[in-house]
Amino acid sequence: MTVSAAPVNRLANSRLEIHGGHRLSGELRVSGAKNSALVLMAACLLSRDTLRLRNVPPLTDITAMGEILAALGVRVTRSGEVIDLDGETISAAAPPYELVNSLRASFFCIGPLLARMGMAQVPLPGGCQIGSRPVVEHVKGLKALGAQVTIEHGVVTAVVPGPQRRLRGGHIHLDCPSVGATETLMMAAALADGVTTIENAAQEPEVIDLADLLVAMGARIRGAGTPTIHIDGVATLHGADYAVIPDRIEAGTFLLAAAITRSPLYVAPLIPEHLGAVLTKLEEVGCRLEHDGVGLQITPERLRGVDLRTQPFPGFPTDLQAPFMSLLATAEGTSLVVENIFENRLQHVAELQRMGASIRLQGNTACIEGVARLSGAPVQGTDLRASAAMVLAGLAAEGTTTVRGLEFLDRGYADLEGKLNRVGARIERIGDDA
Ligand code: UD1
Repeated sequence: MTVSAAPVNRLANSRLEIHGGHRLSGELRVSGAKNSALVLMAACLLSRDTLRLRNVPPLTDITAMGEILAALGVRVTRSGEVIDLDGETISAAAPPYELVNSLRASFFCIGPLLARMGMAQVPLPGGCQIGSRPVVEHVKGLKALGAQVTIEHGVVTAVVPGPQRRLRGGHIHLDCPSVGATETLMMAAALADGVTTIENAAQEPEVIDLADLLVAMGARIRGAGTPTIHIDGVATLHGADYAVIPDRIEAGTFLLAAAITRSPLYVAPLIPEHLGAVLTKLEEVGCRLEHDGVGLQITPERLRGVDLRTQPFPGFPTDLQAPFMSLLATAEGTSLVVENIFENRLQHVAELQRMGASIRLQGNTACIEGVARLSGAPVQGTDLRASAAMVLAGLAAEGTTTVRGLEFLDRGYADLEGKLNRVGARIERIGDDA
């Protein structure tokens, strides 16, 4: 593969036209997890050997991460859903601003670069549509591992002092269970001298996926998936051949597509434990779920409103809050949705209202009165998951819904309209990239 720039501008005029009201039937295939794949790719910086990742979703964010790694000297070869990352000759410890600016996840490079090269210089990721997204916990943890960190002119410079330039194990207590901070610190500590303990660690499945990959590369890690992670640093890590877990957020979106169109669907592969809180809420809403060891058969029955609040894993994921709200806008009765993780993640409310949803917003709480039918309208996806929420609403709405904001959607969903069309949806991509 030759990596190419994320086609953000090309998508600015593109839109999806969704002709709503069609029943769906059949099977939807879930791709590999975007949020896992991005961090797993960064882990290639920890080893001189080749890391082969399988089940990597074909997304613009993955292309952008490949570009950033290539700029650092990694040889990146992609063939379908397999990506080879050869980190033998890393030539730089400072990814260029133009590339980093387009992808927050590029900040993942700081931990492994510091661990392997003894220094890293990474532009501070900015905020984004859903909130300010600080990296205070990442920086605090790297300092606890012996790095000297300064932030000047928007660039984070981290250096390991001493002749060995090797991080040392340390004790870290995170103020909040940040997923990104936990992952950054696990990668940094994997090559540190001595034992690191991360307390109040994030317990998300993507953290376990990273730990499993690092262990496959020779790291010594215990406790991933619990609030306390122990990492016994090793001198070197080797290559690995590793498959990314299925995307729990894409799987959840597909289950919601079934529910909102009142259609039975089979969604696979998925790991039910990764979706615990979501499956509980789907059952509470009135969907029957049957797991056969690979995927889930979902059968929506009479749907009624439920209350939900977003929380760190194993709580209800913030990434499915907007898509779930589209469903609740069509379920009988009243629902309350509280967004606790990001301060600006209810922008889809105004767009759903344009489609006839009855929602009142107060602070971080949305009160939803289900309506019998949404009506198609031109809407704007304001971030990745809000865009998915618009597509779901469009599937259920009467008439045509035009969704703009595909530069967000394509970052996180591989061929969403193609997959939905194959089970009976009528979605057309219009614009420069159609
Ligand atoms: C990851 C996911 C994102 C998901 C989010 C929460 C990736 C690439 N992205 O983002 O899809 O929505 O987890 O599940 O995996 N915080 C601080 N200080 C810090 C760091 C975080 O206060 O230093 C706060 C954030 O403002 C936010 C909360 O912690 O309120 C969760 O953020 P975090 O877990 O760090 O999210 P990300 O890793 O950025």
